[in-house]
Amino acid sequence: MISFRMFSKGVHFLPLVAAVGVLVSACAPDPERRQREYMPDMYRNPAVKAQDEYSYFRTGSAMLVPPEGTVPRGFEPYPFSVVERERAAELENPVPLTRQNLEIGRKYYNIHCMVCHGVVGSGDGQSTLVHTDAGMPVPPPLYSESIREEWTDGELFHVISVGQGQMPGYKDRITREHRWAIVHYVRALGIAATPAEEDLEEVERLGWDAREMDRPARPERPRDLQSIYILN
Ligand code: HEC
Repeated sequence: MISFRMFSKGVHFLPLVAAVGVLVSACAPDPERRQREYMPDMYRNPAVKAQDEYSYFRTGSAMLVPPEGTVPRGFEPYPFSVVERERAAELENPVPLTRQNLEIGRKYYNIHCMVCHGVVGSGDGQSTLVHTDAGMPVPPPLYSESIREEWTDGELFHVISVGQGQMPGYKDRITREHRWAIVHYVRALGIAATPAEEDLEEVERLGWDAREMDRPARPERPRDLQSIYILN
C-alpha cells in the first residue's frame, strides 16, 4: 500500500509527481491536435528539402546547380554535339555483353525509356499514349529494320546521350556505362522482336513461355491504356 510514510522514508516525492504529470499530459485528449513536444530533437530539423522555396539563396530555390565548368568526380562528359552523329557512329560498346549487363540495361531502359517507347520498344509507352492527342509524337519502334540492320551501337549511344527530335538526351542523367548497357538491351529487343528459327527452337527446348508483360500491346487510345495497364 502506498502511504505518505513511504515518501517520508526517502522516496522522492517531487520527481514522482513531475513524472506522472508529464505522462498524463502526454495523453492527447484531442488526437487531431498537435500536442506538446518535450524533445522534438530532429523532427523539426532546419535542413531544406529539394524543390522547396529557400530565401537564403539568391535564386529563391533550395536547389543549387553546380558552378559552371565543373563536373562531378568520375564523370566523363559526352564529347559530341547533336549534329556529330557520324563521328559518334564509330564508337564501340565498351561494356561486355553479359547477362548481368543486359539486366542492367533492362533496368535502366525500364526506368528512363519505357515511359515513351513501351515495354518492348514498340512506341506505346504510357506517356506516349496519354499525350498523343496533345501532340506527343509516337516514337518509331526500336526493333525497326533500320535500327537492327543499319544503326551502329555508336549511333544508338549517341541518340540516347543527346536525344533526337522531341526526345531528350540522357548524357547527364544516365551514366555512360548504363547507357551502353541500354544499347545492349535495345539490341536484345530487336532480336526478341525478330527471333530466328533456332531462337524459337531454343526457347521451346528450355520450356520458356512468352511472358504476358512482354507481349507488345498496341492500344491507340488512353481508354485502352487504362484497361491494359491499370485495371489488369
Ligand atoms: C519523352 C519520351 C521519350 C523518352 C523518355 C525516350 N525517348 Fe527515344 N524517342 C522518343 C521520340 C518521340 C523519338 C522520335 C524522335 C524523332 O525522330 O523525332 C525517339 C527516338 C528514339 C530513337 C531513334 C529511333 C529512330 O528510328 O529514329 C532511339 C534509338 C531511341 N529513341 C531510344 C531511346 C532510349 C534508349 C531511351 C531511354 C534512354 C529513350 N529513347 C527515351 C521519345 C522518347
